[in-house]
Amino acid sequence: ESTMTSRKGSTAPTPPPAVKGIGKKVAKPDYSESKIVVAMVGLPARGKSYLSNKLMIYLNWLEYDVKVFNVGQLRRSKARQKAQKYAESSSSAVSSDITLNPRLGIKEDHTASFFSHDNKDATQARDGLAQESLEMLIQWLKDGGNVAIHDATNSTRDRRAKIEHRVAQEKGMILIFLESLCDDPAVIAANVALKVTQGDPDYKDMSRDDAKRDFLRRISEYEKVYETITEPHLSYVRILNVGEEVTMSRINGYLSSRIAFYLMNLHIKPRSIYLSRHGESQYNVEGKIGGDSLLSPRGMQYAKALPALVTECVGSQELTVWTSTLKRTIQTAQYLPFTKLTWKSLDELDAGVCDGMTYEEIEQEYPDDFANRDDDKFNYRYRGGESYRDVVIRLEPVIMELERQENILIVGHQAILRCLYAYFHHLPQADLPYIKIPLHTVIKLTPRAYGCDEARFPLPIGAVDTHRPKPGKVDKDKGLTPSNSTKRKYFVEDEAAAAAAGAGTANGPKVLAPVPRKEI
Ligand code: F6P
Ligand code: PEP
Repeated sequence: ESTMTSRKGSTAPTPPPAVKGIGKKVAKPDYSESKIVVAMVGLPARGKSYLSNKLMIYLNWLEYDVKVFNVGQLRRSKARQKAQKYAESSSSAVSSDITLNPRLGIKEDHTASFFSHDNKDATQARDGLAQESLEMLIQWLKDGGNVAIHDATNSTRDRRAKIEHRVAQEKGMILIFLESLCDDPAVIAANVALKVTQGDPDYKDMSRDDAKRDFLRRISEYEKVYETITEPHLSYVRILNVGEEVTMSRINGYLSSRIAFYLMNLHIKPRSIYLSRHGESQYNVEGKIGGDSLLSPRGMQYAKALPALVTECVGSQELTVWTSTLKRTIQTAQYLPFTKLTWKSLDELDAGVCDGMTYEEIEQEYPDDFANRDDDKFNYRYRGGESYRDVVIRLEPVIMELERQENILIVGHQAILRCLYAYFHHLPQADLPYIKIPLHTVIKLTPRAYGCDEARFPLPIGAVDTHRPKPGKVDKDKGLTPSNSTKRKYFVEDEAAAAAAGAGTANGPKVLAPVPRKEI
């Protein structure tokens, strides 16, 4: 009779055949009752899109269906449509300004005067666009979405009242205003620079100087009529300089409170988050998963080499090290001259009855489970253990704390670091369990306005490769054919090879560049 080793090293009998293959796919939680409209409020260049994007990534990571409805984008697409229609209808006598650039809709004037409150036609057009965008947003929520973000200036009481009355007609829909105030000239200047240098479609055909001049004029047009939220009956969160001060009013309910709490913890101070797996463990060498083994001799070498690398990266800045409660991460961090904290939430994905087994043993002992996991790794929950989804949920407080903190080094585990990495790079759920996080490599993530910059520092200390790619072949008769890669191990002897083992997902491109700003 075969035996297996439990996490504590004792032996337990193999379950009888009748209960084989019952690790299972666990469905997504039911969020269908959550319907929230988050309406942004703020002058241009106050980081509204930044906050919308951060909120979307956080809620997406927790599997809420989130969509940002950007009024500026709707305005541009409408203008394009108009120009196209005009070009088509006047076939022979196409006016020169439109044929010059039909896609941009040159007939439309979206320079600063379009945003002036004195320009009645334009104000009416803008109100109409905001209304139209709100209708699309409400429809999207009715069709099954959870959180819809209205990304517009919504800078007057009148505009907010219109939104309020419209949303009130929808049963069960909650409205929260999110105001971003910013009086830090450096942050405003950086946002203005971002707008004019990042190829913003409004300024595509203008020189940078002209674009900057026009954008500053647009801001001053908005300033003339801007009214901060004081309406006492509204639900709102007001953020000053992202993180400096947060005011909340009438925030009720679970998801609303969660959104408010997340926004409260954000900051935009420059900092980096470092991720490293523990040094190679004895279990890694034996190809076993889970457990609480000690480091291998090469893992110890990594632990000794880590302080020099980390110290070089952070220089004179402060850093805090977080480890799991498992011996291999604590051992890896032992020589680091920084404050250390131990998190139970950072413990490796619990493989339940498979803890302590090799992938080959699991494949033999629980062939159905093994195939099921390959089929849908994110959703598969080990019998008596966890799925990637379970881990994402347990990491939520870690994410929250990471947003609050400055420089942090996490010495963690393969599955844990995949989940954290996917949050920072906004990677899709299906790719998450296959992200390459090699041993003996420090990954430095530096949050930017949109996405994160990444650098990888592999140390030239050999280690086994624990990454098991998703088997690609599906045999119609046999279902998924397990790949023989479970038996593959290779050693990383130098930096170049380590870099080659580097970033990216199993199916996607390498993720070394900052994630580009997404047009939604
Ligand atoms: O092999 C190292 C390890 O950290 C195991 O302890 C854990 O079960 C596994 O990686 C997680 O990776 P995967 O989800 O790819 O099996
Ligand atoms: C826009 O059109 O870019 C915009 C943000 O609209 P509004 O200021 O009308 O909300």
